[in-house]
Amino acid sequence: MTIRYGLIGSGMMGQEHIRNLNLLDGCEVTAIAEPDLGMRELSQQTANSPIATYTNHHDMLANSDLDALVIVAPNHTHHSILKDVLDSNLPILCEKPLCTTAADCGEIMTLAETRTAPLWVAMEYRYMPPVARLIDEVKQGTVGQPRMMAIREHRFPFLEKIGDWNRFQAQTGGTLVEKCCHFWDLMRLVLQSDPVRVFASGNMDVNFIDESYNGQQPDILDNAFVILDFENGSRGMLDLCMFAEGSYWQEIVSVTGAQARVDAKVPGPARFTVDGKERHAEVEISHRASKEVVTETIEVDHSILQAGDHHGSTFYQHQHFRDLILSGQNQPAVSMEDGYWSVLVGEAAEHSAKTGQAVYLKDFK
Ligand SMILES: NC(=O)c1ccc[n+]([C@@H]2O[C@H](COP(=O)([O-])OP(=O)(O)OC[C@H]3O[C@@H](n4cnc5c(N)ncnc54)[C@H](O)[C@@H]3O)[C@@H](O)[C@H]2O)c1
Repeated sequence: MTIRYGLIGSGMMGQEHIRNLNLLDGCEVTAIAEPDLGMRELSQQTANSPIATYTNHHDMLANSDLDALVIVAPNHTHHSILKDVLDSNLPILCEKPLCTTAADCGEIMTLAETRTAPLWVAMEYRYMPPVARLIDEVKQGTVGQPRMMAIREHRFPFLEKIGDWNRFQAQTGGTLVEKCCHFWDLMRLVLQSDPVRVFASGNMDVNFIDESYNGQQPDILDNAFVILDFENGSRGMLDLCMFAEGSYWQEIVSVTGAQARVDAKVPGPARFTVDGKERHAEVEISHRASKEVVTETIEVDHSILQAGDHHGSTFYQHQHFRDLILSGQNQPAVSMEDGYWSVLVGEAAEHSAKTGQAVYLKDFK
């Protein structure tokens, strides 16, 4: 069986979805809904099979026979698009963040209660091979009970987008929602607990300070420290800097328990490096009792790395999503509840950065 995918939005990330679906057996992008002519034409070149193009998802749903939808439109459009497509009862992969506010995520969860087809939130960092390996090590008990999880992301600034939607909190949810929802999701998954308290310090200090759009200056953070307390007593910390594209590692994810620490070290996209070459990821395990440090290179197939900017994660996420569709099951690995929590924590962190106060999530929901 070939699964026919319809994409809603085909900008930068939409192209990455098409390139990865090109690589996967049994998958074909057969339609896209995209208002921008240039992106519609580019999508026809990117796809390795003929695709029907529409300017909006209503026309696409009315005129195309599809087996699955992928929502890859800007963040602030997810809520209304989801409300329109939930009734289709097609399996949906929705790009992160599920919506830009936790309240909107909650509304979608309620509306989706009668669905039988899965709605999977694209928390693809779970599927980055070095991060997936870290998750496995923690599950196997390598560190003991995880007590601390620290994530450092030092990367390039947000890229330019059609309509400049990513320069404003109202359209993205804010940097700590838009970008960092991935990290809150990883922390909940690895620490196996929900956060209870969030404290953040952050600002827009370097990027976009000279930009103006219709007289409005961008209002998104470009650096932050965020500390989280979890219900089970474990702690999380994020160190985010978006003017650090000279860093060798883009992300370093560290989980520490009483027995060991495991680090996943992930390079950024090759197209932003000085020599344009892919770098391998590493996983390092530092044992406490023996003081032994074991470092392993994590190889990812070159064609998979080349198909995107996310170290293979889009490919592996699609592989799991495809397998879920083929299985006929309806339980996605990343649920709407996971999507809701990742937005709630991001919103609380944005609020904390603005007010200077720690936020207790039980009072914030
Ligand atoms: N999982 C990840 O790691 C990851 C990485 C990048 C982006 N994203 C997410 O993917 C989504 C798209 O981001 P992007 O970087 O591709 O942005 P983009 O601006 O490059 O592309 C968005 C596209 O959607 C189109 N569009 C606008 N309104 C639309 C509508 N109502 N219906 C259909 N299409 C519409 C635009 O014309 C544009 O081509 C966002 O939600 C973003 O947060 C996720």
